[in-house]
Amino acid sequence: MKTLVIIKPDGVERGLVGEIISRFEKCGFSVKALKITQLNRETAKKLYAVHEGKKFFDDLIEYVTSGPVVPMVIEIKDIGIGEGIRLVRKIVGATNPMEAEMGSIRGDYASDISHNVVHASDSEESNLYETPIFFNKEEILD
Ligand code: CMP
Repeated sequence: MKTLVIIKPDGVERGLVGEIISRFEKCGFSVKALKITQLNRETAKKLYAVHEGKKFFDDLIEYVTSGPVVPMVIEIKDIGIGEGIRLVRKIVGATNPMEAEMGSIRGDYASDISHNVVHASDSEESNLYETPIFFNKEEILD
């Protein structure tokens, strides 16, 4: 299965790009697409459309457009999409760093719920929606 992970502006600014990629690689994932880019407001709103109207939405858009992000498609062989997404979310940790397990990326590095270092698609549907925002098919290795 393949899925999308985004290193957010705080992760890039704090020099955690290599560490975060390494954590996925150590768990058996390989990188199939990778770039560094800065989101404009329109793209950020599209990415987080599901959160539009929530009280944290404006701050979320402000923050995620504030600096470069590193989106990537990672792949792990021989497991299904559901299981793969559960594994990614285990590596990433809970959205709220107070609830994220020690040893997960957010448990180890996130400073608060807004600055939580990484975003990962949380379902097959969100992955199908989010991946094309960053990569077209030709940019993702087989
Ligand atoms: P992420 O996994 O990128 O998905 C939505 C983001 O909104 C989330 O991580 C947080 O960074 C941010 N956010 C800020 N406040 C909240 C909140 N109260 N509940 C959920 N997400 C929040």
